[in-house]
Formats: sequence, structure tokens, C-alpha cells
Amino acid sequence: LDNGLALKPTMGWLHWERFMCNTDCDNDPDNCISERLFMQMADVMVKEGWKEAGYEYICIDDCWPSTHRDAQGRLQADPKRFPGGIKKLADYVHSKGLKLGIYADVGKYTCAGYPGSLGYYETDAQTFADWDVDLLKFDGCYMDWTLLGEGYINMSKALNKTGRSILYSCEWPLYEWPHRQPNYTAIRETCNHWRNFNDVYDSWSSLKSILDWTASHQDVIAPSAGPGGWNDPDMLVIGNFGLSHDQQESQMALWTIMAAPLLMSNDLRNICPRSKELLQNQHIIDISQDPLGKQGYLSAKVFSFEVWERPLSKNRLAIAVLNKQEIGSPRGFAIRAVPGWKICNPQCNVTQILPQYKEMGVQTPQSKMMVSINPSGTALLTVTPISSDFKMQKL
Ligand code: DGJ
Repeated sequence: LDNGLALKPTMGWLHWERFMCNTDCDNDPDNCISERLFMQMADVMVKEGWKEAGYEYICIDDCWPSTHRDAQGRLQADPKRFPGGIKKLADYVHSKGLKLGIYADVGKYTCAGYPGSLGYYETDAQTFADWDVDLLKFDGCYMDWTLLGEGYINMSKALNKTGRSILYSCEWPLYEWPHRQPNYTAIRETCNHWRNFNDVYDSWSSLKSILDWTASHQDVIAPSAGPGGWNDPDMLVIGNFGLSHDQQESQMALWTIMAAPLLMSNDLRNICPRSKELLQNQHIIDISQDPLGKQGYLSAKVFSFEVWERPLSKNRLAIAVLNKQEIGSPRGFAIRAVPGWKICNPQCNVTQILPQYKEMGVQTPQSKMMVSINPSGTALLTVTPISSDFKMQKL
């Protein structure tokens, strides 16, 4: 969507995977969906280096509103859980130099059964703008699928009409795929990012299903990604319960290769230092935010390795090699077997970023360089070509 936003993949935090629809503030005040949760997350984001690392949006998902609209037909926050209201929360988040995201649904109800926006697109867009909200995640439950496109387009127009810059995060293709192949040209014109596939869970099998879906549809979806619009494989679940550290590295590496929005869903108030370091790794974030804005793709499957590549600016290339063999010991992979290795002709400079940072120096097409990768782990590298002109200049 050409609204000047999301020129690079969005970075931030989104409550759903970790906190879901927990509305029980009496028994679980620290984890229920309330203004307190978002204010605490904003505090930590500033104090613990998240903002500095690039994470900017704090996003509310489902279950924030009251079950009824107000007398003027406007959505209102649940008064018990958000006593200050969303405008105050947005002011608070802005005072920290961060941005606030909110959630609504194109249909009659949200997926969790709260009021949907069907019939209220302009009212709701104006309400969000009046509240100074910066992002809208627009879900697709309780909607006749033949009207999905129209609904998402009309909300996009309604947001634009408010005159406020509001990043528009859609789930249009996810809800359309069961019926037909979505029109990605129209989706890109309408949304800043869009979910294509199932909700992420806190498990390795969930991540694998998302990667498999993405790889098997990459010819259809990858070309539509670029500055202003991105495919969204759903949240980062790094720092939760279900992934080993190697699997967390795999998510970080592959989401970066996919040019995915980096929206964490975890508890930043209490996160293990290794997960934090991984999420804040500037070398990885630099690849994610590369100005060329091209989505990567699966380029080869060999010996139960998956090789993924993402073209970067200045002719550079990011390579992720995922060890899919979930038995045994670390396995070595000869990096010259990567299809994109041809950019390393006559020479290139290689940097390994994961599993640990290592300058691998100048390599050639015949390079014998190997990387060692743990089961369900990923090696992430960047390759910078050294042109023969450059060599001549040096001599
Ligand atoms: C379905 C979406 O795909 C999820 O990300 C989340 O927003 C839930 N709905 C909320 O009900």
C-alpha cells in the first residue's frame, strides 16, 4: 500500500500468541489484556534496548473492546481493563517514542466474538484516528468470503480518508485461500502487510508448516513483497516455551530471509538473555531491514538441508541453511553448493552471523568452506561479491 508506511518490514510486539484472549484481570492481573500490560511492555521496550534495536510498534490484538458499541455506534475499550481508554494509552506509548497498534475485524464479529467492523468501516477508522492509533490489524472472521476483498479495500479507503498515517495489516489472503487464489496485486495495493497462512503456535512443527507453505507458494507470493507491502508469516515466538535455542535461531534467520514483519509475541518483562540477544542481533536486523526490500526464497533442498536466499542491496546475498535432519549430531554443509554462490565469482567476502558471528574472509567459487549446523538449527551468512574491478583498483 502506497501510504508511505512499512517501507521496511514492520518491527514491534503483538500480544496474541503469548497472551491470547486472557481477560481475567481479577485472577491474572499481570497477564490479562489490559492497558497495564501494554504500558509495561512500552516501558520495557525503552529500558531494555528493544526500541534502540528497531522495535517500534506495540500492538493490541483481539479482546480489547467492550462487548457493545457506545450510543454513537463507536467501538469502546473494555472499561474495566482499559480504564484510561485507548487515546490515553496511545499518548503514553507515544511519550516513549513508540507507536500503538490496534485490532478489528472486517466481518460481523472478531474471531473471539467481540463487535466486528462490518457496516462501521468509516466510523471505526475515524475512531482509531481520533485515538491517534498508528497501526490497524484487520482480521477476517465472520465475513462472507465473496465480500472479503471489498471489505478490506473499503477499510483501506476509510483509513486513508481520516488523513492519519495508519499502517494497515491485513489477513485477506489467509481467509480467501480456502476458496480461490487471492489477487496479490490488489492485496499489495490495499495493505502494508498480509497474513497468508495459519496462526503461528509456540512449536517447531508450527514453524515448519509455515515455512513449507511459504516455500510451496513462493512463486505466487514472493514477487508481491517490497517496500510498502510484505507477506506476513505471523509473529516471532522467540523467548517463549516451545522452541529450543537452535529453533529460535531458525525462526529469526528464516523470518528475516522472508522479509517478514518482525512482530514478537513474548513476555519482554521476563525473557531469557539468549533469546533477547538473538532478537536484538543487529546483523540479523540489518538483513531484515535491507533497503532493497526483496523477499527471499527456498533455492535448494539437499541432504535434508534447506537452502534459502535473499538478495540484498549492493549485490549482496543473505543465505540461510536449515538442517532439517532432526536426529543425530551437527552436520557440515559445503557452502559452495548454494545456488546463489555464483555471485562469488571471482571472489567474495563471507560473514557468518548465526550460529555465531564469524568473518570467514575472502572465498572463491572453489571454496572448501563448511558450516556446521545443529539439528533444526540454521546457519545464516552474508556474501559480498568482490568484483575484479575492485581488485584492480587495490593493486
Ligand atoms: C485470528 C488471527 O489470525 C490471529 O492472529 C489473532 O488475531 C486471532 N484471530 C484473534 O482472535
